[in-house]
Amino acid sequence: MADQFKSISEEINSFKVSNADDLESYRLRFIGRKNIIGDLFSQMRDVPNDQKKAFGQKVNELKNLAQSKFQELIESLNSDNVRDESHADLTLPSAKSSFGSIHPLTATRQRFIQIFERIGFNVSSGPEIEDDWHNFTALNFPENHPAREMQDTFFIEKDPDIALRTHTSSVQIRVLENEEPPIRTLSPGRVFRNEAISARAHCVFHQMEGLYVDKGVSFSDLKQTLYHFAKEMFSKKTQIRFRPSYFPFTEPSAEIDISCQICHGEGCNICKYTGWVEIGGAGMVDPNVLENCNIDSSIYSGFAFGMGIERITMLRYGVKDLRLFTENDVRFLKQFNSL
Ligand code: DAH
Repeated sequence: MADQFKSISEEINSFKVSNADDLESYRLRFIGRKNIIGDLFSQMRDVPNDQKKAFGQKVNELKNLAQSKFQELIESLNSDNVRDESHADLTLPSAKSSFGSIHPLTATRQRFIQIFERIGFNVSSGPEIEDDWHNFTALNFPENHPAREMQDTFFIEKDPDIALRTHTSSVQIRVLENEEPPIRTLSPGRVFRNEAISARAHCVFHQMEGLYVDKGVSFSDLKQTLYHFAKEMFSKKTQIRFRPSYFPFTEPSAEIDISCQICHGEGCNICKYTGWVEIGGAGMVDPNVLENCNIDSSIYSGFAFGMGIERITMLRYGVKDLRLFTENDVRFLKQFNSL
């Protein structure tokens, strides 16, 4: 009998498992319903009375041994599966994780705002779905005037007209209606036009609107402000020029060109060999616009400008096709990882 106890305890002590099947064999043999230790219990009735107690104790010891060994085996299996931290080589390079980056259009918008905040501009916004008043009428587009067709509009409703805004100039009206001069504000936002998508045009794009209204604001303020902007946004050497133009909401109006950032005036296909590239429109706020917003045009004057954020970003980074900005091709976006 003593031999039997000894051999079972030796068997338990030396039992090794290398997988779940081994563990299960252990369980069946020493713990399960018909286990070998249980068999010993059933031999109890054949044990002489004076030895029963000692026998029972021995069987219980074996049972406890089998249980604690079982826990040990479970733990040894688990720790083999989980990498042992104490053996990790901390000098190995870590697994590479990749991060997203700032989108180039966002980077340009942020830089734009930074430049203008330093000269006292704040940021304002308006809705992308606009009524006729804010997108056209208050901006001095006469009823049925061909100027309304300058910007092919996505209408949502007709009479009264509700449309996706065709430019951020609509935010000028919202600010002028709600604030007192002096006003210096920048309005970035998404705009929509019914245009065929190409390398240079899109039906959804972004603009940055600027507005400055105060006593005595003049065209030279406009020119100097945009000159400062061009040098900050591009480079110190950047030149700026104004070409006479027409917008219903400004008088006089101008188109703004900067010296080509690619060829620096030598001539290349980006500037179409002129040395100049257009970045937007500008002008002195038409007195009618101020009056439409209940601002006395005999006291106040102002300038405004509007630029395409895609356009500026293309010039800043030498991007030749604006469709790249919205295609979400990581090979393109990764090139801006350092922004
Ligand atoms: N709203 C014009 C456009 O979308 C751009 C523009 C031109 C805005 C002149 C202005 C401005 O504020 O003064 O083409």
